[in-house]
Amino acid sequence: MTSDMILHNIGKLYTYPGKGPVPGSRMDDPTIIENAGVTIRDGKISMVGGSDEVWKKADLAEFTECIDCKGKAVVAGFVDPHTHAVFGGTREFEISMKLKGASYLEILEAGGGILRTMNDTRSMSVEELSSTLDERLERMLTYGTTSVEIKSGYGLDVETEMKLLKAIKASKSRLTKVSTFLGPHAVPPEYKGRPDAFIDLMISMLPEIVEKDLAEYADIFCEKGVFDGERSRRFLTAAREAGLKLKIHSDEVENLNGTVIGAELGVASADHLLVSEDKDLEAMRISGTVPTVLPGTLMTIFEERVPRVRDMIEMDLPVAIATDINPNCMVENLQFIQTLACYRLKMTPNEILAASTVNPAHAIGLSDRKGRIEEGYDADLLVLKDDSFDHVVYHFGVNHVDRVILNGRVVRSELEW
Ligand code: NIG
Ligand code: FE
Repeated sequence: MTSDMILHNIGKLYTYPGKGPVPGSRMDDPTIIENAGVTIRDGKISMVGGSDEVWKKADLAEFTECIDCKGKAVVAGFVDPHTHAVFGGTREFEISMKLKGASYLEILEAGGGILRTMNDTRSMSVEELSSTLDERLERMLTYGTTSVEIKSGYGLDVETEMKLLKAIKASKSRLTKVSTFLGPHAVPPEYKGRPDAFIDLMISMLPEIVEKDLAEYADIFCEKGVFDGERSRRFLTAAREAGLKLKIHSDEVENLNGTVIGAELGVASADHLLVSEDKDLEAMRISGTVPTVLPGTLMTIFEERVPRVRDMIEMDLPVAIATDINPNCMVENLQFIQTLACYRLKMTPNEILAASTVNPAHAIGLSDRKGRIEEGYDADLLVLKDDSFDHVVYHFGVNHVDRVILNGRVVRSELEW
Protein backbone atom coordinates (compact mmCIF):
# COMPACT_ATOMS: atom_id res chain seq x y z
CA MET A 1 0.00 0.00 0.00
CA THR A 2 1.36 3.40 -0.96
CA SER A 3 2.54 5.56 1.94
CA ASP A 4 1.40 9.14 2.38
CA MET A 5 4.47 9.96 4.46
CA ILE A 6 7.77 8.38 5.42
CA LEU A 7 10.02 9.48 8.28
CA HIS A 8 13.53 8.09 8.00
CA ASN A 9 16.90 8.60 9.68
CA ILE A 10 15.23 8.83 13.09
CA GLY A 11 18.08 8.76 15.64
CA LYS A 12 15.94 7.23 18.40
CA LEU A 13 12.31 6.20 18.12
CA TYR A 14 10.61 5.67 21.50
CA THR A 15 7.61 3.45 21.99
CA TYR A 16 5.96 1.14 24.50
CA PRO A 17 4.88 -2.06 22.70
CA GLY A 18 1.76 -3.89 23.82
CA LYS A 19 -1.65 -2.59 24.73
CA GLY A 20 -3.18 -0.50 27.51
CA PRO A 21 -1.34 1.36 30.24
CA VAL A 22 2.32 0.80 31.11
CA PRO A 23 2.65 0.35 34.87
CA GLY A 24 5.47 0.44 37.40
CA SER A 25 9.03 -0.38 36.37
CA ARG A 26 7.97 -0.86 32.71
CA MET A 27 7.53 2.92 32.51
CA ASP A 28 11.31 3.26 32.63
CA ASP A 29 11.82 0.71 29.88
CA PRO A 30 10.57 1.94 26.51
CA THR A 31 11.61 0.20 23.33
CA ILE A 32 14.10 2.52 21.65
CA ILE A 33 14.79 1.79 17.98
CA GLU A 34 18.00 3.46 16.82
CA ASN A 35 18.18 4.65 13.22
CA ALA A 36 14.46 4.04 12.73
CA GLY A 37 11.85 4.70 10.09
CA VAL A 38 8.06 5.05 10.08
CA THR A 39 5.49 5.11 7.30
CA ILE A 40 2.05 6.67 7.49
CA ARG A 41 -1.03 5.89 5.46
CA ASP A 42 -4.53 7.40 5.85
CA GLY A 43 -3.60 9.09 9.12
CA LYS A 44 -2.38 5.86 10.70
CA ILE A 45 1.05 4.41 11.31
CA SER A 46 1.54 1.68 8.70
CA MET A 47 5.12 0.49 9.35
CA VAL A 48 7.75 0.92 12.08
CA GLY A 49 11.27 -0.47 11.94
CA GLY A 50 14.88 0.19 10.98
CA SER A 51 15.28 3.18 8.67
CA ASP A 52 16.81 1.26 5.74
CA GLU A 53 14.37 -1.62 6.00
CA VAL A 54 11.35 0.70 6.14
CA TRP A 55 12.70 2.67 3.19
CA LYS A 56 13.13 -0.53 1.17
CA LYS A 57 9.74 -2.03 2.02
CA ALA A 58 7.74 1.19 1.75
CA ASP A 59 5.66 1.70 -1.33
CA LEU A 60 6.62 5.28 -2.17
CA ALA A 61 4.77 7.39 -4.71
CA GLU A 62 5.40 10.83 -6.08
CA PHE A 63 3.05 12.33 -3.54
CA THR A 64 4.68 10.58 -0.56
CA GLU A 65 6.06 13.19 1.82
CA CYS A 66 9.60 12.19 2.82
CA ILE A 67 10.94 13.56 6.09
CA ASP A 68 14.63 13.05 6.80
CA CYS A 69 14.80 13.29 10.61
CA LYS A 70 18.61 13.70 10.50
CA GLY A 71 19.27 11.65 13.61
CA LYS A 72 16.74 13.42 15.81
CA ALA A 73 14.44 11.62 18.26
CA VAL A 74 10.79 10.85 17.56
CA VAL A 75 8.18 10.25 20.27
CA ALA A 76 4.40 9.87 20.29
CA GLY A 77 2.35 13.08 20.52
CA PHE A 78 1.78 14.06 24.14
CA VAL A 79 -1.58 13.40 25.78
CA ASP A 80 -2.70 15.93 28.41
CA PRO A 81 -5.36 14.08 30.46
CA HIS A 82 -6.46 16.80 32.93
CA THR A 83 -7.19 20.36 31.85
CA HIS A 84 -9.65 23.11 32.72
CA ALA A 85 -8.81 24.92 29.51
CA VAL A 86 -12.18 26.62 29.00
CA PHE A 87 -12.83 29.61 31.25
CA GLY A 88 -13.01 33.40 31.35
CA GLY A 89 -10.66 35.86 33.07
CA THR A 90 -7.34 35.35 34.83
CA ARG A 91 -6.22 35.27 38.49
CA GLU A 92 -2.69 36.66 38.50
CA PHE A 93 -3.51 38.84 41.56
CA GLU A 94 -3.88 35.69 43.70
CA ILE A 95 -0.11 35.15 43.59
CA SER A 96 0.48 37.98 46.09
CA MET A 97 -2.42 36.79 48.27
CA LYS A 98 -0.89 33.33 48.42
CA LEU A 99 2.53 34.75 49.21
CA LYS A 100 1.01 36.70 52.10
CA GLY A 101 -0.20 33.41 53.53
CA ALA A 102 -3.70 32.85 52.11
CA SER A 103 -4.20 29.16 51.33
CA TYR A 104 -5.90 27.85 48.20
CA LEU A 105 -9.00 26.81 50.17
CA GLU A 106 -9.12 30.12 52.12
CA ILE A 107 -9.18 32.07 48.86
CA LEU A 108 -12.02 29.85 47.62
CA GLU A 109 -13.92 30.16 50.92
CA ALA A 110 -13.71 33.97 50.59
CA GLY A 111 -15.38 33.86 47.16
CA GLY A 112 -12.14 33.95 45.15
CA GLY A 113 -10.48 31.12 43.24
CA ILE A 114 -12.94 28.95 41.30
CA LEU A 115 -15.83 31.28 42.31
CA ARG A 116 -14.03 34.33 40.93
CA THR A 117 -13.52 32.51 37.63
CA MET A 118 -17.18 31.45 37.70
CA ASN A 119 -18.16 35.14 37.57
CA ASP A 120 -15.77 35.84 34.71
CA THR A 121 -17.09 32.80 32.83
CA ARG A 122 -20.84 33.24 33.26
CA SER A 123 -20.81 36.49 31.26
CA MET A 124 -19.23 34.89 28.18
CA SER A 125 -20.93 33.43 25.12
CA VAL A 126 -20.30 29.95 23.72
CA GLU A 127 -18.39 31.53 20.82
CA GLU A 128 -16.17 33.61 23.11
CA LEU A 129 -15.46 30.63 25.34
CA SER A 130 -14.71 28.42 22.38
CA SER A 131 -12.29 30.88 20.84
CA THR A 132 -10.32 31.38 24.10
CA LEU A 133 -10.19 27.60 24.40
CA ASP A 134 -8.84 27.29 20.86
CA GLU A 135 -6.07 29.81 21.55
CA ARG A 136 -4.96 27.70 24.48
CA LEU A 137 -5.20 24.45 22.50
CA GLU A 138 -3.09 25.94 19.71
CA ARG A 139 -0.40 26.83 22.26
CA MET A 140 -0.55 23.26 23.62
CA LEU A 141 0.00 21.93 20.12
CA THR A 142 3.10 24.12 19.74
CA TYR A 143 4.61 22.26 22.69
CA GLY A 144 3.66 18.81 21.42
CA THR A 145 0.27 18.01 22.93
CA THR A 146 -1.87 16.23 20.33
CA SER A 147 -4.70 14.88 22.54
CA VAL A 148 -6.36 16.64 25.43
CA GLU A 149 -9.06 16.20 28.03
CA ILE A 150 -11.07 19.36 28.78
CA LYS A 151 -13.35 19.85 31.78
CA SER A 152 -16.30 22.18 32.31
CA GLY A 153 -16.68 23.45 35.86
CA TYR A 154 -16.60 27.25 35.92
CA GLY A 155 -20.30 27.73 35.22
CA LEU A 156 -21.74 26.15 38.37
CA ASP A 157 -25.23 26.69 37.04
CA VAL A 158 -27.16 24.76 34.41
CA GLU A 159 -26.95 27.40 31.70
CA THR A 160 -23.23 28.10 31.94
CA GLU A 161 -22.17 24.49 32.44
CA MET A 162 -24.05 23.71 29.21
CA LYS A 163 -22.34 26.67 27.51
CA LEU A 164 -18.93 25.34 28.55
CA LEU A 165 -19.66 21.84 27.22
CA LYS A 166 -20.99 23.33 23.99
CA ALA A 167 -17.88 25.51 23.70
CA ILE A 168 -15.71 22.38 23.91
CA LYS A 169 -17.82 20.70 21.24
CA ALA A 170 -17.67 23.83 19.04
CA SER A 171 -13.87 23.97 19.23
CA LYS A 172 -12.22 24.24 15.83
CA SER A 173 -8.90 22.97 17.15
CA ARG A 174 -7.28 20.06 15.34
CA LEU A 175 -6.28 18.35 18.59
CA THR A 176 -8.14 15.23 19.64
CA LYS A 177 -10.47 16.35 22.44
CA VAL A 178 -12.22 14.43 25.21
CA SER A 179 -14.85 16.32 27.17
CA THR A 180 -15.56 15.99 30.90
CA PHE A 181 -18.54 17.34 32.86
CA LEU A 182 -17.19 18.81 36.11
CA GLY A 183 -20.38 20.59 37.23
CA PRO A 184 -19.63 19.87 40.91
CA HIS A 185 -16.35 21.82 40.94
CA ALA A 186 -17.38 24.14 43.81
CA VAL A 187 -20.58 25.15 45.59
CA PRO A 188 -21.81 28.39 43.95
CA PRO A 189 -23.05 31.30 46.12
CA GLU A 190 -26.73 30.52 45.30
CA TYR A 191 -26.27 27.12 46.97
CA LYS A 192 -23.98 28.14 49.84
CA GLY A 193 -24.59 25.76 52.76
CA ARG A 194 -26.76 23.51 50.52
CA PRO A 195 -24.26 21.24 48.75
CA ASP A 196 -26.76 18.38 48.49
CA ALA A 197 -29.23 20.55 46.61
CA PHE A 198 -26.43 21.59 44.24
CA ILE A 199 -25.46 17.95 43.67
CA ASP A 200 -29.15 17.26 42.86
CA LEU A 201 -29.06 20.10 40.31
CA MET A 202 -25.90 18.74 38.69
CA ILE A 203 -27.38 15.23 38.60
CA SER A 204 -30.47 16.65 36.87
CA MET A 205 -28.22 17.79 33.99
CA LEU A 206 -26.85 14.33 33.22
CA PRO A 207 -29.57 13.00 30.85
CA GLU A 208 -29.32 16.02 28.52
CA ILE A 209 -25.50 15.92 28.56
CA VAL A 210 -25.54 12.27 27.55
CA GLU A 211 -28.34 12.68 25.02
CA LYS A 212 -26.54 15.58 23.29
CA ASP A 213 -23.22 13.79 23.51
CA LEU A 214 -21.62 16.72 25.31
CA ALA A 215 -19.29 14.74 27.60
CA GLU A 216 -17.65 11.34 27.89
CA TYR A 217 -16.58 11.64 31.52
CA ALA A 218 -17.96 13.10 34.75
CA ASP A 219 -15.70 14.47 37.48
CA ILE A 220 -16.09 16.02 40.95
CA PHE A 221 -13.83 18.02 43.29
CA CYS A 222 -13.80 15.86 46.43
CA GLU A 223 -12.28 18.22 48.99
CA LYS A 224 -12.81 19.77 52.41
CA GLY A 225 -15.28 22.65 52.11
CA VAL A 226 -16.23 21.53 48.59
CA PHE A 227 -17.80 18.04 48.22
CA ASP A 228 -17.23 15.26 50.75
CA GLY A 229 -16.78 11.57 49.97
CA GLU A 230 -20.43 10.57 50.22
CA ARG A 231 -21.61 13.43 48.00
CA SER A 232 -18.90 12.46 45.52
CA ARG A 233 -20.15 8.89 45.59
CA ARG A 234 -23.72 10.02 44.99
CA PHE A 235 -22.84 12.22 42.02
CA LEU A 236 -20.45 9.74 40.41
CA THR A 237 -22.91 6.86 40.85
CA ALA A 238 -25.62 8.89 39.09
CA ALA A 239 -23.19 9.87 36.32
CA ARG A 240 -22.19 6.26 35.78
CA GLU A 241 -25.86 5.21 35.63
CA ALA A 242 -26.45 7.94 33.06
CA GLY A 243 -23.73 6.40 30.89
CA LEU A 244 -20.67 8.55 31.59
CA LYS A 245 -17.19 7.31 32.47
CA LEU A 246 -15.73 8.68 35.67
CA LYS A 247 -12.84 10.69 37.11
CA ILE A 248 -12.25 12.28 40.50
CA HIS A 249 -10.21 15.17 41.95
CA SER A 250 -9.08 13.64 45.25
CA ASP A 251 -6.52 14.02 48.03
CA GLU A 252 -5.36 17.47 46.91
CA VAL A 253 -5.48 19.17 50.32
CA GLU A 254 -7.33 16.81 52.69
CA ASN A 255 -7.85 13.06 52.44
CA LEU A 256 -11.63 12.53 52.37
CA ASN A 257 -11.36 8.94 51.11
CA GLY A 258 -12.27 10.14 47.61
CA THR A 259 -9.65 7.98 45.93
CA VAL A 260 -10.99 4.81 47.56
CA ILE A 261 -14.59 5.77 46.76
CA GLY A 262 -13.62 6.63 43.19
CA ALA A 263 -11.74 3.35 42.77
CA GLU A 264 -14.75 1.42 44.06
CA LEU A 265 -16.89 3.13 41.42
CA GLY A 266 -14.35 2.41 38.67
CA VAL A 267 -12.94 5.87 37.96
CA ALA A 268 -10.54 5.86 35.02
CA SER A 269 -8.24 8.19 36.94
CA ALA A 270 -7.88 9.83 40.33
CA ASP A 271 -6.14 13.16 40.07
CA HIS A 272 -3.94 15.33 42.39
CA LEU A 273 -3.19 12.68 45.10
CA LEU A 274 -0.86 14.85 47.19
CA VAL A 275 -2.07 13.44 50.52
CA SER A 276 -2.92 9.92 49.34
CA GLU A 277 -2.25 7.13 51.82
CA ASP A 278 -1.40 3.44 51.39
CA LYS A 279 -5.13 2.54 51.26
CA ASP A 280 -5.59 4.91 48.32
CA LEU A 281 -2.64 3.56 46.36
CA GLU A 282 -3.80 0.01 47.02
CA ALA A 283 -7.37 0.85 45.92
CA MET A 284 -6.07 2.30 42.64
CA ARG A 285 -3.88 -0.76 42.08
CA ILE A 286 -6.82 -3.14 42.53
CA SER A 287 -9.21 -1.15 40.34
CA GLY A 288 -6.74 -0.28 37.55
CA THR A 289 -7.16 3.46 38.12
CA VAL A 290 -4.55 5.76 36.56
CA PRO A 291 -3.00 7.97 39.26
CA THR A 292 -2.63 11.39 37.66
CA VAL A 293 -0.30 13.88 39.29
CA LEU A 294 -0.20 17.61 38.60
CA PRO A 295 3.20 19.10 39.43
CA GLY A 296 2.34 22.56 38.05
CA THR A 297 -0.49 22.92 40.57
CA LEU A 298 1.80 21.99 43.45
CA MET A 299 4.07 24.80 42.34
CA THR A 300 1.33 27.44 42.03
CA ILE A 301 -0.14 26.69 45.46
CA PHE A 302 3.38 26.93 46.94
CA GLU A 303 3.17 23.33 48.10
CA GLU A 304 6.48 21.86 49.10
CA ARG A 305 5.32 18.29 49.59
CA VAL A 306 4.96 15.99 46.58
CA PRO A 307 2.69 13.03 45.79
CA ARG A 308 4.12 9.57 46.43
CA VAL A 309 5.03 8.86 42.83
CA ARG A 310 7.99 6.64 43.69
CA ASP A 311 5.69 4.47 45.85
CA MET A 312 3.07 4.41 43.07
CA ILE A 313 5.65 3.15 40.59
CA GLU A 314 6.99 0.66 43.13
CA MET A 315 3.40 -0.65 43.54
CA ASP A 316 3.13 -1.13 39.78
CA LEU A 317 0.70 1.72 39.10
CA PRO A 318 0.59 3.43 35.66
CA VAL A 319 1.30 7.05 36.61
CA ALA A 320 0.22 9.92 34.33
CA ILE A 321 1.08 13.63 34.49
CA ALA A 322 -0.95 16.60 33.26
CA THR A 323 -0.78 20.39 33.00
CA ASP A 324 -4.08 20.92 34.89
CA ILE A 325 -4.19 24.23 33.01
CA ASN A 326 -6.67 26.46 34.88
CA PRO A 327 -6.66 30.09 36.10
CA ASN A 328 -4.70 28.97 39.17
CA CYS A 329 -2.09 27.15 37.09
CA MET A 330 -1.63 28.90 33.76
CA VAL A 331 0.43 26.53 31.68
CA GLU A 332 -0.18 25.02 28.26
CA ASN A 333 3.34 23.68 27.92
CA LEU A 334 3.51 20.01 28.94
CA GLN A 335 7.31 20.08 28.56
CA PHE A 336 7.48 22.43 31.53
CA ILE A 337 5.40 19.96 33.56
CA GLN A 338 7.73 17.16 32.44
CA THR A 339 10.66 19.10 33.86
CA LEU A 340 8.87 19.53 37.20
CA ALA A 341 7.99 15.83 37.19
CA CYS A 342 11.69 15.06 36.98
CA TYR A 343 13.20 17.54 39.39
CA ARG A 344 10.38 17.64 41.96
CA LEU A 345 8.70 14.22 41.69
CA LYS A 346 11.94 12.40 40.90
CA MET A 347 10.65 10.64 37.81
CA THR A 348 13.14 9.52 35.14
CA PRO A 349 12.83 10.92 31.59
CA ASN A 350 11.58 7.54 30.33
CA GLU A 351 8.97 7.32 33.11
CA ILE A 352 7.90 10.85 32.22
CA LEU A 353 7.48 9.84 28.57
CA ALA A 354 5.17 6.96 29.57
CA ALA A 355 3.33 9.36 31.92
CA SER A 356 2.81 11.78 29.00
CA THR A 357 1.78 9.30 26.29
CA VAL A 358 0.48 5.75 26.92
CA ASN A 359 -0.76 6.20 30.48
CA PRO A 360 -2.71 9.43 29.97
CA ALA A 361 -4.14 7.96 26.74
CA HIS A 362 -5.57 5.15 28.89
CA ALA A 363 -6.88 7.68 31.45
CA ILE A 364 -9.00 9.37 28.77
CA GLY A 365 -10.12 6.29 26.88
CA LEU A 366 -7.82 6.64 23.87
CA SER A 367 -5.27 3.92 24.51
CA ASP A 368 -6.28 1.80 21.53
CA ARG A 369 -5.27 4.58 19.11
CA LYS A 370 -3.11 7.22 20.83
CA GLY A 371 0.12 7.32 22.83
CA ARG A 372 2.15 4.69 20.95
CA ILE A 373 4.21 4.49 17.77
CA GLU A 374 2.92 1.13 16.61
CA GLU A 375 1.31 -0.11 13.42
CA GLY A 376 -2.40 0.75 13.35
CA TYR A 377 -2.17 3.61 15.85
CA ASP A 378 -3.05 7.17 14.88
CA ALA A 379 -0.03 8.94 13.38
CA ASP A 380 0.46 11.55 16.12
CA LEU A 381 4.23 12.00 16.23
CA LEU A 382 6.71 14.58 17.45
CA VAL A 383 10.07 15.08 15.77
CA LEU A 384 12.27 16.60 18.47
CA LYS A 385 15.14 19.04 17.95
CA ASP A 386 17.46 16.75 19.93
CA ASP A 387 18.72 13.21 19.58
CA SER A 388 17.04 11.90 22.74
CA PHE A 389 13.95 12.61 24.86
CA ASP A 390 16.20 13.22 27.90
CA HIS A 391 17.00 16.69 26.52
CA VAL A 392 13.38 17.79 26.94
CA VAL A 393 13.64 17.45 30.70
CA TYR A 394 17.29 18.50 30.92
CA HIS A 395 17.20 21.81 29.00
CA PHE A 396 14.12 23.48 30.36
CA GLY A 397 12.34 26.64 29.31
CA VAL A 398 12.73 26.09 25.58
CA ASN A 399 10.52 24.25 23.11
CA HIS A 400 12.09 20.95 22.06
CA VAL A 401 9.42 20.02 19.54
CA ASP A 402 10.25 20.74 15.94
CA ARG A 403 7.59 19.00 13.88
CA VAL A 404 4.17 18.04 15.13
CA ILE A 405 2.47 15.37 13.03
CA LEU A 406 -1.21 15.05 13.85
CA ASN A 407 -3.30 12.28 12.31
CA GLY A 408 -0.65 11.87 9.62
CA ARG A 409 -0.20 15.52 8.67
CA VAL A 410 2.56 17.96 9.59
CA VAL A 411 0.71 20.72 11.41
CA ARG A 412 3.71 22.56 12.82
CA SER A 413 7.32 22.82 11.85
CA GLU A 414 9.79 25.16 13.57
CA LEU A 415 13.17 24.49 12.05
CA GLU A 416 14.31 25.06 8.50
CA TRP A 417 15.48 21.73 7.14
O1 NIG B 1 -7.55 20.78 39.50
N1 NIG B 1 -8.59 21.81 42.50
C1 NIG B 1 -9.60 21.91 41.83
N2 NIG B 1 -9.71 22.30 40.56
C2 NIG B 1 -8.63 22.83 39.78
C3 NIG B 1 -8.31 24.25 40.10
C4 NIG B 1 -9.39 25.17 39.77
C5 NIG B 1 -9.11 26.60 40.04
O2 NIG B 1 -8.43 26.95 41.03
O3 NIG B 1 -9.62 27.42 39.26
C6 NIG B 1 -7.42 21.93 39.87
O4 NIG B 1 -6.32 22.34 40.28
FE1 FE C 1 -8.33 19.91 38.06
